[in-house]
Amino acid sequence: MAPKKLAAGNWKMNGLTASLAELDAIAARENGCDVLICPPATLITAAVAHSGEVAIGGQDCHAAESGAHTGDVSAAMLRDAGASHVILGHSERRTDHGETDGQVAQKAIAAHEAGLVTVICIGETEAQRDGGQTLDVIATQLAGSVPDCATAANTVIAYEPVWAIGTGRTPTNDQIAEVHALIRETLAARFSDGNDVTLLYGGSVKPGNAGEIFDIPHVNGALVGGASLKAGDFGPIIDAL
Ligand code: G3H
Repeated sequence: MAPKKLAAGNWKMNGLTASLAELDAIAARENGCDVLICPPATLITAAVAHSGEVAIGGQDCHAAESGAHTGDVSAAMLRDAGASHVILGHSERRTDHGETDGQVAQKAIAAHEAGLVTVICIGETEAQRDGGQTLDVIATQLAGSVPDCATAANTVIAYEPVWAIGTGRTPTNDQIAEVHALIRETLAARFSDGNDVTLLYGGSVKPGNAGEIFDIPHVNGALVGGASLKAGDFGPIIDAL
């Protein structure tokens, strides 16, 4: 089995009910690859009703199944709302909420038990890249954030350099290729189906650069933030895949 191609949109803390019109437009222009939209939790149920073949995911979940965790949602709740995927370990969660690799792995275990596919995010900061630490950081995050129960069917890995998120800056193709090759080698060494895991690049992907990024070895799609909010931008990215 070859890795599945996936165009994933992360709406982050953006979107009201009216935004679902964009989802209708995205659903109408699918090109055969898998498409995922992760709206804010408030829109998941409504988004499922609009999504057609487009998968709907959450942006985070708690590691516990239920309990006294004000403001959090569990993996089972996301599944119950109709989500099929959940993003975990996004750098904004790691930065804003202090999430650690170990916590991300615990969340991933809970998500897999609930039947969700996890999109586990890893990526270096600008200081880490400038300090020549990128490959060590990626290896550490992979080892700590991806649980032993991960398979090609229940796990997607997104490489998102923190300094490229929302900045309009992207790594060179060689830099993306180097990191994706490390991720592929690491997964293949640890998991029997590691060669089949879908690997996404994320960070300032736009219609104008998507095609070039999708040509890089071991890039099987993208995790798109800002350019996923409008079908006019996300549609051409889907088409480039
Ligand atoms: O989850 C998506 C990433 O953070 C990328 O965001 O496309 O706005 O740079 P961006």
